[in-house]
Amino acid sequence: MIPTLPALPRSVRVVEVGPRDGLQNEKALVPTEQKIQFISMLAEAGLPVVEATSFVSPRAIPQLSDAGAVMAGLRRLPSTQYPVLVPNLKGMERALAAGVRSIAVFTAASESFTRHNVNATIAESLANFRPVVALAQQKGMSVRGYISTVFGCPYEGAVAPQQVLTVAQALLEMGVDDLSLGDTIGVATPNQVVDVLDLLLTKGAIPVERLAVHFHDTRGTALANVLMALQLGISIVDSSAGGLGGCPYAPGAAGNLATEDLLYMLHGIGISTGVDLEKVVAATRFIAPLLGHAPTSKYYQAATAYP
Ligand code: COA
Ligand code: ZN
Repeated sequence: MIPTLPALPRSVRVVEVGPRDGLQNEKALVPTEQKIQFISMLAEAGLPVVEATSFVSPRAIPQLSDAGAVMAGLRRLPSTQYPVLVPNLKGMERALAAGVRSIAVFTAASESFTRHNVNATIAESLANFRPVVALAQQKGMSVRGYISTVFGCPYEGAVAPQQVLTVAQALLEMGVDDLSLGDTIGVATPNQVVDVLDLLLTKGAIPVERLAVHFHDTRGTALANVLMALQLGISIVDSSAGGLGGCPYAPGAAGNLATEDLLYMLHGIGISTGVDLEKVVAATRFIAPLLGHAPTSKYYQAATAYP
């Protein structure tokens, strides 16, 4: 007899992070025009959210130093949101000047990573966001909060789920609309997904619809982790077209979970996304020659093996 499987969501909101999380981790500097074209192709594929770029220090992330020009040149579809990453008020001013309507702030569940990433403690990074989030709310913008290193830290190793809950609650109290739980270094296994989500949903009483999962496929566990998260009621999943974005802590290894691989699995299970998988493949096919290496997406590789 087939065992009864837990109910899965009927539809999933896929948050495309390739143009931001992907390109910031690629060595290649993609010209502005091609970034705009890539973002547009992803939006036209039906992705409801395409994270477009990042208004961080150009010294920290030179790959995205053309953020203003990207946003200025983008023809936005009403059906897609184009959030950008903002680290501080200076980034917020640049984002507002570029007509951005939706932002994301970011911190981590481990101190050493936060120090390396934004040169601050977790508490300081939260304090930096407070005025940014307040301003965004005043302007009627939606705000996403990223938590990095939820399942492990490149400097500290294991991360206690309680630490994730503490940071999650601080971000929600600040007024962040939803939270993306990031496996920055791609170490999570499905049992850890259960541990973290269970703590946030039960002890933390965080509404499940405010949580997104963000896996990297560095060790091949991303889809298994997504499936586990779906079984716990999660219905927002981040992914990157082509699997763009390597892992700075594991040179040469796969980066973000590929959008194509995620869509293939979701559609196969019967979960709708509103996204046209072949149009995402076309977007990856467009950007691939500019990267200097083959995209890591398994579906993309299979779909383009015999041209
Ligand atoms: N946009 C553009 N420039 C910025 C900026 C922003 N949002 N924030 C700071 N800067 C500039 C400052 O003007 C200053 O420039 P100057 O030296 O020419 O005067 C310089 O950056 C240093 O500013 P400071 O406030 O001292 O920041 P910092 O050096 O402590 O860096 C961050 C802090 C957060 C700005 C930086 O670490 C950063 O942008 N990190 C982003 C990392 C990231 O995106 N990681 C991936 C996402 S998970
Ligand atoms: Zn990521």
